[in-house]
Amino acid sequence: MGGPGKFLKENFSGNITVLKGKSILLGITGSVAAYKSIELIKRLREEEASVRVIMTGASKRFITPLSIELAAGDRVYSDMFETPLSHISLPADSDLFVIAPATANIIGKYANGIADDLLSTALLAYNGTVIIAPAMNWRMYENRAFQKGLNYLSSIGVKTVGPEQGNLACGEEGVGRMADVERIMESIITALTKQDLAGEQVLVTAGPTREYIDPIRYLSNRSSGKMGCALAKIAGRRGAEVTLICGPLSVAPPDNIDNVITVETADSMYAAVMENLPMSSIFIMSAAVADFMPVETKESKIEKKDKLQLNLVKTRDILESVGRLKNKPFTVGFAAETGYRPDRARKKLLGKDIDMIVFNDVSQKDAGFDTDTNEVVIIDRDREKKLPLMSKKDVSMAIFDRILELKDNR
Ligand SMILES: Cc1cc2nc3c(=O)[nH]c(=O)nc-3n(C[C@H](O)[C@H](O)[C@H](O)COP(=O)(O)O)c2cc1C
Repeated sequence: MGGPGKFLKENFSGNITVLKGKSILLGITGSVAAYKSIELIKRLREEEASVRVIMTGASKRFITPLSIELAAGDRVYSDMFETPLSHISLPADSDLFVIAPATANIIGKYANGIADDLLSTALLAYNGTVIIAPAMNWRMYENRAFQKGLNYLSSIGVKTVGPEQGNLACGEEGVGRMADVERIMESIITALTKQDLAGEQVLVTAGPTREYIDPIRYLSNRSSGKMGCALAKIAGRRGAEVTLICGPLSVAPPDNIDNVITVETADSMYAAVMENLPMSSIFIMSAAVADFMPVETKESKIEKKDKLQLNLVKTRDILESVGRLKNKPFTVGFAAETGYRPDRARKKLLGKDIDMIVFNDVSQKDAGFDTDTNEVVIIDRDREKKLPLMSKKDVSMAIFDRILELKDNR
């Protein structure tokens, strides 16, 4: 471990998105959900992936190849005999094969090794990761012959996203709606992300707490929970088993993680952390726990008056309590300050005996509370790494990169 003189002050080079430059082969089949493929293609291209599309004959009854060509910025492939050997060359040049929407027909054919058109033949010629997004009437989806094929595909590593419960195009309700485009995007991103947190159990806290004065009023803070949710999401993408303990969030918790525990007060967050800590290998305390709570919470509403004096006491310091434990997981704290004070954050790191602290100056524009971006300094025992303003997801990537560098050398 180095002394203060040894700290490296590096600048981060920025983080490229995982889809940038990737080649996605998208199969569109004959479902009413085929029009949603346009949105999927747009989202993929926004993330700088290139998209090549194979349309089945039936899919062209639902959406025109022209619309798909305009979205993809490329021609559409459909006829195996029009472009000889496209069934081999298209999959060979692709990083990922996605079928969205995937009909009962293509899933059944794939499970049985049938190759009777360009899409089904290309699927058999592909040996990378395949993601399918089934879409169909709920009776078709529940059909045992269909389920047998779907289960078989899962058993050989084909990834399935959805379908979801909801109103179906046939006017009925049930499980069969194609997964949301954003959910499909998430599974594509995960499939292309290095699973370097596989085997880790990551515990993250997020959001503010509420300390009740009476049944109606509470003390809280401006934390939205966006940073903690980004950390949980990125850990999930990188293969970790994730538990998120959150106070009242202003955003929806990520849907790619295993376990979300909601709490309200500092005390309940403390209890939830202590209960889940023994099962965790990495603990990140990004929640903005209230520092003070009322000495007592009145049982009925305090009447309006000219002046009210509140008596407050310190809440239990979760990070400090974890720091004192003998067998603690790799522990990361956050230090929000008004003003550029990484020195105070370093003091907190040493004082609380934790492994890493992430400093951010919440008085900066676009950093800290309720923003999608943050500007932080990652401080550990050896090094300070100042990052430029970046998305909270990219900040999370950098935090986990550093955790992985340090974790096994603790
Ligand atoms: C109006 C209409 C809607 C359809 N929607 C679906 C659907 O959502 N899912 C599905 O599996 N089949 C659906 N089908 C049936 C398929 O289009 C049919 O099985 C076709 O052979 C699929 O061919 P493909 O898998 O080569 O695209 C629908 C058919 C019609 C006429």
